[in-house]
Amino acid sequence: GMPRFVKIVEVGPRDGLQNEKLIIPTPVKVELIQKLVSSGLSVIEATSFVSPKWVPQLADARDVMQSIPLIPGVKFPVLTPNLKGFEAAIASGAKEVAVFASASESFSVSNINCSIEESLERYHKVVSAAKDMAIPVRGYVSCVVGCPVEGPVPPKKVAHVAKRLYDIGCYEISLGDTIGVGTPGTVSPMLDAVMSVIPVDKLAVHFHDTYGQSLANIFAALQMGISVIDSSVAGLGGCPYAKGASGNVATEDVVYMLNGLGVTTNVDLGKLMAAGDFISKHLGRQSGSKVAIALSRV
Ligand code: HMG
Ligand code: MG
Repeated sequence: GMPRFVKIVEVGPRDGLQNEKLIIPTPVKVELIQKLVSSGLSVIEATSFVSPKWVPQLADARDVMQSIPLIPGVKFPVLTPNLKGFEAAIASGAKEVAVFASASESFSVSNINCSIEESLERYHKVVSAAKDMAIPVRGYVSCVVGCPVEGPVPPKKVAHVAKRLYDIGCYEISLGDTIGVGTPGTVSPMLDAVMSVIPVDKLAVHFHDTYGQSLANIFAALQMGISVIDSSVAGLGGCPYAKGASGNVATEDVVYMLNGLGVTTNVDLGKLMAAGDFISKHLGRQSGSKVAIALSRV
């Protein structure tokens, strides 16, 4: 049934900003992260240690990490696609990392330039290195419902890749609808397949809102017992290697829905809106959060 507490994994500073064309100054990123911390979020994905040729916006990963103060009880995981990224992340002070695989071969190649199998070999090395340093590793699976090239992705394939990441030692598996095509009609069977091989308390859901289905999908996931939700302040985001995909579901909208359901998050909606307002003003556009727009008119 419905969980009583939900952990929100805020991915705005990473997934949100990675798709922005104009380079955002490092101090703006750091201030955004600080405002997100003030709202009560306990997990904030801060940046990625990926190739700056692939994602120029996050080329300042080291500076961002070195500018965030250590805050007890708050985690700042970063994306690491390989050992090189892992080592750079640790050297910059990262205490938690995330690896990202795909359930679709085509997307794996376009996103990280290797096959699914090759990526899992790389991630095995990252997890082994992390284990030696007691660094927790989160695992993502992309394209859990659909792939921009291959179309619908079979739930079995998703369950297989998720289980591989779990077996190599990822402590939590985040299931990403990268292009936001899922509905509860396709998300529920996918979750059923994954839940048959991984305990539900090790799973997270990660929805992009391209078709406006995220909250419905999250509600379906909650009813199936999932209690970790990825979202992005002001609905920032999109993957640069998934053309046409829009931002993540807005954190404000997730918190509003969870408040309505009586589910605890420990996130202060007003302070979260202030963070969303700050970055939206900097980007010069309206927030992607319906709740933020509605409440700012009240
Ligand atoms: P490659 O070109 O195959 O890498 O890229 P390579 O090993 O051949 O190296 C090429 C160059 O990159 C070399 O430099 C390396 O040193 C450098 P050069 O000799 O040419 O000067 N390099 C690196 N530099 C910095 N940090 C590193 C690193 N590794 C190699 N870690 C690679 C392979 C994986 C590096 C590349 O494809 C890449 O960086 N991809 C990342 C793409 C990305 O960040 N995508 C978005 C995140 S995933 C996502 O958004 C989905 C998610 O949100 C879930 C969902 O929505 O479903 C997580
Ligand atoms: Mg994403």
